[in-house]
Amino acid sequence: MKNHVNRVVLVGTGFVGSSYAFAMVNQGVTEELVLVDLNKEKSEGDAMDLNHGMAFAPSQTKIWFGSYADCKDADLVVLCAGANQKPGETRLDLVEKNSRIFKSIVDEIMASGFDGIFLVATNPVDILTYAVWKYSGLPKERVIGSGTILDTARFRFLLGDYFKVDTRNVHAYIIGEHGDTELPVWSHADIGGKPIAKMMKDQEHFKHDDLEEIFTNVRDAAYHIIQRKGATYYGIAMGLVRLTKAILQDENSILTVSAQLDGEYGHEDIYIGVPAIVNRSGIREIVELSLDEDEQQKFDHSVGVLRKVMDSII
Ligand code: 2OP
Repeated sequence: MKNHVNRVVLVGTGFVGSSYAFAMVNQGVTEELVLVDLNKEKSEGDAMDLNHGMAFAPSQTKIWFGSYADCKDADLVVLCAGANQKPGETRLDLVEKNSRIFKSIVDEIMASGFDGIFLVATNPVDILTYAVWKYSGLPKERVIGSGTILDTARFRFLLGDYFKVDTRNVHAYIIGEHGDTELPVWSHADIGGKPIAKMMKDQEHFKHDDLEEIFTNVRDAAYHIIQRKGATYYGIAMGLVRLTKAILQDENSILTVSAQLDGEYGHEDIYIGVPAIVNRSGIREIVELSLDEDEQQKFDHSVGVLRKVMDSII
């Protein structure tokens, strides 16, 4: 029997897309990677450049500049196309521009006969993931947004730095909108199994104000980076590769993604960042944590803000 050849189509080879392609090749995640972009020259150049690095890669990825027709046999289509924030803009400010672009992109992809999984990264990611689900007609499990995967990574990094432990041993989530109304789930934050609340009690040199500041820095991280270098791309690109691996390698990994709620956390018919089990069939299951009152209130607020914006475009 012929082995299955994994094909990923990347739509949009701007800063985020090309960083994703670079990280994919370096980690040897797929056999085929197709680059699609309106800017043919740039994308062709990227394909050539990446192919020239293949001698140094851990495994071989066949890369080419392609078209929407290549989505027909794709396992995964990653959407990174669209405008990004200018200094001073919020993610939600991008909604009109990017939802218009997405309608035509998704229509063309579906016309190819695509029947795989969508992974959406463009902002505002929760709204656009909902839009892709609507436009594509695919089951909700097969339309995934990058959600708060990066915010959770930023949170773990800063907490690891503060408590002086490996970031991979920090278990803590950021949930809600990937944007200004996101929230930390302190009630389920632990380090190697020890609740952060207990660590604060045991060692009084750890201060609550410091934790507040850590969260603020997570929430505002993109603004801080955009102010300095105009865009953010490496972190999100690595998060997208992490998600791609979880999907293609059928990992059943728990990652904070934008998933469609169906009663979980008291809401439905909305895409928002929550921990979910991700595998080859997409979102297998949403992990429903029991939030404390304050967290639930903040989550409800985040849902409300997203719903308002969503209603204005869909
Ligand atoms: C980020 O959080 C801008 O959404 C992008 O880095």
